Amino acid sequence: TSPLVVAIDGPSGSGKSSTSRGVAARLDLAYLDTGAMYRAMTWALLQHGVDLTDSDAVAVAAEKISLESGTDPAAPTIHADGVDVAEPIRSDEVTGSVSLVAAVPRVREILVDMQRATIAGSHGIVVEGRDIGSTVAPDAPVKIYLVADPAARAARRAAENGGGDAAATEQALARRDEIDSTRATSPLAKPEGAVVVDSTHMTLDEVIDAIVGIVDAAG
Ligand code: C5P
Repeated sequence: TSPLVVAIDGPSGSGKSSTSRGVAARLDLAYLDTGAMYRAMTWALLQHGVDLTDSDAVAVAAEKISLESGTDPAAPTIHADGVDVAEPIRSDEVTGSVSLVAAVPRVREILVDMQRATIAGSHGIVVEGRDIGSTVAPDAPVKIYLVADPAARAARRAAENGGGDAAATEQALARRDEIDSTRATSPLAKPEGAVVVDSTHMTLDEVIDAIVGIVDAAG
């Protein structure tokens, strides 16, 4: 039998990471942050000096980059070419260019293959991203589309970043969502069959409880 897959998709700053880790910990499942993989790929390409606006060059260079994702929800890890990149993948430079890299179809093929291999090798897993319920694991028995009002998302993200400028953060999130939702290959959208959870007026624990309830009901 195939492992239980909980697919959690949604726009930037909707609380996907904290929520997905919490759900995985509660249900004793593994956890995969696919956004971290796109970020790690972007970090490595920048490291190699690849022109990210040249999608052919990005596609060729991406073939040679090795990624490794640790799937313990209590301590997720991400390595690119053997380097621990957990910190640098959160830099403004990577955040500002990741959507460009994620729009390259060959990059998506490479990362989707890795993601499917991780899912197949797991005992059950919560996978978060933008295209999990639609493309990576369309047969997942539980699909969540996690949303929140733009102002709430920006406020949370600004708080995570040590209380930066909420208006600027909201603009940056909106720009990333715009690129992610309008790209040709598996754009961000609510997957077929997904349950929409709006976290705007919910605490993290309430969101985790709601999703665990959805998983139990599907069980
Ligand atoms: O989730 P996070 O904000 O870390 O994702 C970073 C970027 O990676 C997204 O803005 C999007 O461009 C890309 N991404 C994607 N597909 C996924 C996960 C992330 O295109 N499944």
